[in-house]
Amino acid sequence: MKETSNPKSAQLGHSTTDNTDQALTTNQGLKINNDQDSLTAGERGPSLLEDFILREKITHFDHERIPERIVHARGSGAHGVFKIHKSLAKYTKAKFLAEEGKETPVFVRFSTVAGSAGSTDLARDVRGFAIKFYTEEGNYDLVGNNIPVFFIQDAIKFPDLIHAVKPEPDNAIPQAASAHDTFWDFISLMPESMHMIMWAMSDRAIPRSYRMMEGFGVHTFKFINEEGKMHFVKFHFKPKLGVHSVAWDEATKISGKDSDFHRRDLWEAIENGAFPEWDFGVQIIPEEDEHKFDFDLLDPTKLIPEEEVPVELVGTLTLNRNPDNFFAETEQIAFHPGHLVPGIDFTNDPLLQGRLFSYTDTQLSRLGSPNFHEIPINRSINTVHNNQRDGHMRQEITKGKVSYEPNSIGGGCPFQAMMKNGGFASQEERVDGKKVRARSQSFVDHYSQAKLFYNSQSEPEKTHLQNALIFELSKVTIPAIRERVVGQLNFINKELAAAVAKKVGVKITTLKQPNGSIPADADPK
Ligand code: HEM
Repeated sequence: MKETSNPKSAQLGHSTTDNTDQALTTNQGLKINNDQDSLTAGERGPSLLEDFILREKITHFDHERIPERIVHARGSGAHGVFKIHKSLAKYTKAKFLAEEGKETPVFVRFSTVAGSAGSTDLARDVRGFAIKFYTEEGNYDLVGNNIPVFFIQDAIKFPDLIHAVKPEPDNAIPQAASAHDTFWDFISLMPESMHMIMWAMSDRAIPRSYRMMEGFGVHTFKFINEEGKMHFVKFHFKPKLGVHSVAWDEATKISGKDSDFHRRDLWEAIENGAFPEWDFGVQIIPEEDEHKFDFDLLDPTKLIPEEEVPVELVGTLTLNRNPDNFFAETEQIAFHPGHLVPGIDFTNDPLLQGRLFSYTDTQLSRLGSPNFHEIPINRSINTVHNNQRDGHMRQEITKGKVSYEPNSIGGGCPFQAMMKNGGFASQEERVDGKKVRARSQSFVDHYSQAKLFYNSQSEPEKTHLQNALIFELSKVTIPAIRERVVGQLNFINKELAAAVAKKVGVKITTLKQPNGSIPADADPK
């Protein structure tokens, strides 16, 4: 997409200021001749309260910081374009996927999860891979990661997971730097995390570059076509440069010398015209095949093996422009897995369902106003028309006296009529059953895919994974936690468990699951 024809760039252009060679003004537009000396009573006297130039400059400075993201605080972003090469109209009516050759502006933010905004890029961690598609039908957000599965199956466990992984609350020292007790304590008691642990201890968790990692939507989503037919879908992004990692020794050295390594790499590649590119692919599952897998499609700790359902490559994601202003764009962008367009819907995955609540809720406090959708980077290129009004920092001046419906006065939007005329409608789905606080039995196998992943690793990769576990567990100060983790590993691979047990000085015990059972597949051979 040429920059001039990029509707998002054009929209952002209206909000961009170039200060080059301009006279200095206050925020009220008043030209001023000196902002280097305060107004004082006499050249050596006290500053005057009436110095509105001093007060404005310092007051604004005092309020420059906003809270960092509660997770994924450390990140870097870029503008780009998404192009669909092969129409998905058979599966979805979403125009940006259905119209072959269509180009859609995007903003992508990569991140680590656990560290603070100033932490090192090379931490052993999951990477966020969040994409905002500025489609003509509204913003669509795919808020994914570089690992295709997640630690937990239910959103209600997310605060526990994050409390366990963040710096320990007494001394606020990041886990990577000191003890690892809380994270591994939680993991050792959470068998469902074992598949993700295999990925997180593998080289995938220390990427060489943002340009060289995969992106996954993780959850199963739904596609709905013009006829109303539904297919399940998993989203994939495959880097054209291939998937590459650094070794742990390299990661620690790089962190010491240049903690902005990934940020710099992305920025410089784009400045130099080496635009990062990914193939976009989908795994499509017909509705009638929902129950044909030996795991539940709604379980976010499982992936669909590509041998069972191949990834069809249908588009390209290219990043081609650095932000003009990190704060205004990368920091203020607000993603949300519930930002959908017609033709895409979410599933009943219990992790995804909780995320649908969390993002807007956190952004209300992070960005401080219910009007954060009006911040230029968050604005839809489709004009917004509704009856929502007022609130802190409202920018839009909506005309007329009608801000309710139904109405007979007119002047507002003819909402009732428009609703009949297309627009987003949730996919109808039969739901029945008892109201329960219990997970489905179809979610209970926690080890088969962990095994699959471990066995898919080459010998050097297995060694890296094993060394990562030994390094991590050697930082755990409580032997019972080390022993429980080794007990979990023993359900995945006995040699791996034995090698780790030997190095971290614990014996192998057979663990019971939280429900008291021992997994049927406890013998991995
Ligand atoms: C960011 C919550 C699971 C990917 C965030 C943020 C919250 C959050 C509160 C900060 C948002 C902001 O301040 O703008 C949750 C909850 C989860 C969950 C409650 C589980 C119940 C996941 C999963 C993925 C994911 C499974 C990947 C599929 C991301 C990404 C970001 C993020 C990429 C950073 C977005 C950005 O770059 O601004 N999450 N998350 N999260 N989350 Fe999640």
